Amino acid sequence: MTTGQHEFTPRLAHNFSDTEDSPVRALLDLVSRPGVISFAGGVPDPTYFDLDAIRSAYDAALSRPERALQYSSSDGELELREIIAANLTDEGIPSQAEDVLVTTGSQQGLTLMGQVMIDQGDVILVEDPTYLAALQTFGLAGAHFVAVDCDDDGVVPEALEKAIELHQPKLVYLIPSYQNPSGRTMPAQRRRDVADILLRTRTMLIEDDPYSSLRYSGEHLEPICAIEGMAAQTALLQTLSKSVAPGIRLGWARVPASIRDALIVGKQAIDLHSSTVDQYAAAHYLAHPETHQSDAEKLEVYGQRLRTMVRELPRALPEGTHVTSPSGGMFLWAELPEAYDTDALLPYAMREGVGFVPGSSFHVDTSIRNTMRISFVTNAESEIVEGVTRLARAVEAYEAEQLAA
Ligand SMILES: Cc1ncc(COP(=O)(O)O)c(C=O)c1O
Repeated sequence: MTTGQHEFTPRLAHNFSDTEDSPVRALLDLVSRPGVISFAGGVPDPTYFDLDAIRSAYDAALSRPERALQYSSSDGELELREIIAANLTDEGIPSQAEDVLVTTGSQQGLTLMGQVMIDQGDVILVEDPTYLAALQTFGLAGAHFVAVDCDDDGVVPEALEKAIELHQPKLVYLIPSYQNPSGRTMPAQRRRDVADILLRTRTMLIEDDPYSSLRYSGEHLEPICAIEGMAAQTALLQTLSKSVAPGIRLGWARVPASIRDALIVGKQAIDLHSSTVDQYAAAHYLAHPETHQSDAEKLEVYGQRLRTMVRELPRALPEGTHVTSPSGGMFLWAELPEAYDTDALLPYAMREGVGFVPGSSFHVDTSIRNTMRISFVTNAESEIVEGVTRLARAVEAYEAEQLAA
C-alpha cells in the first residue's frame, strides 16, 4: 500500500477560487527582513506595551478560573460591557451594557457588519483612500464600493450627499479620527455636517474608531455617533489594539438595538464568543486606568516621531508631492505627481533597505498608483532619518531608470 501524496484540487468557494497571496502580507514579510527600516506596518512599538498593568490584569482574571477559563456568552462578559458602556457614556454616547457587543478585534466588528448588512451588489460608500481590510471583508460579503471625494478634512459633505442621492447606499463606512491610511481627521464642524446628511437621508454609518486614543496635538473630538440622533443609525467600532496591544485581539461594537440580535447570531456562527480570559483581563485593565504607566510617554514619543517624519519626508519625495499632516494615529499619506508609480518604486526602496506600503490597495480604483502610506510610530527618530535618506536614494534611482525615458 502506498502512502504517497496524490494530486487533489479542492473546489474552493467562488469568492476564494482565484485568491492570490495577499500583496500586503507578502510586503510585510519582505520588510521585516533584518536591516530593513520599515515604514510599512501599522504596528505599535512594543517598548510601550504596558506590561505590568497587562500582567496584573491577567493575574486578576485568572484568580477566578471558574469564570475566566469557561465558555462565555456571544455578546460578551457583562463585566466588560458595563465598563465599556460607562466609558462610552463619558465620551458623550449614553450607553448601557446591552448596547455593546464584544468582538475579536474591531476587524471582526467589520466582518460581522458585512455579514449581517450586505447583500451581493449592495453599494457601500467609502472614503478615498480607505482601510484595505474593510474593502476586503465587505468585498467578500458582496459589496459594490463607491469612493467619495475627500479633502484634508475627510469626506466632502457635498460629494457625500450627491453619492447618497445617486446610489442609495446600504451604508457609509468612515474612519473619522487619524484615518488609516491617510492620517487625516474630520474636524468637529465637518462631523456635524456629515451627521446632518446621514440623519436627513436616514443612512446607516459604520464609524471605525481604532486610533482616537493616539492623539498628539489638537482638540479631543467626539465620535460622529455622539451627535444627537446618530447613535440610532451608527455602529461604532473600537478596539484595544492601538491603545493597549493588538495581540489581545479585543474590540467592541456599540450598536443600535435594531441590529444587535442579528450581530449576536452572526458572532455565534463565527466563533461562539471572544476569549473569556482576555475579556476579564480587559475589564480589569479598563477599570484600573491608574495602573497604566506608559500611556503618556507613548503619546509623547509617537508625537515626536510624527514631527520628525513630517520634517524629514519631504526631502525624499519629488516636488509637487502632497503629504498629509496628521495630529494623531500611525500614518502619513503621500500623493506623488501622477507620473510616479509607487508599486514600481517599492523594489527600489527594498534594494535600499526601506519599506512603505504602495497606496493602490487602499483605493477602490486600484489603477491609482501615485500614493503611498508611511507609518511613523515603530521606528526611533534616528531610524526615521536614515530611512528617509534611503527612500530619497530609491526615488532618485527610480526616476533615473523609470521616468527618464
Ligand atoms: C481602520 C482600521 N479598522 C480596523 C482595524 C482592525 O483592528 P483590530 O486589531 O482591532 O482588529 C485596523 C487595524 O489596523 C484599522 O486600521
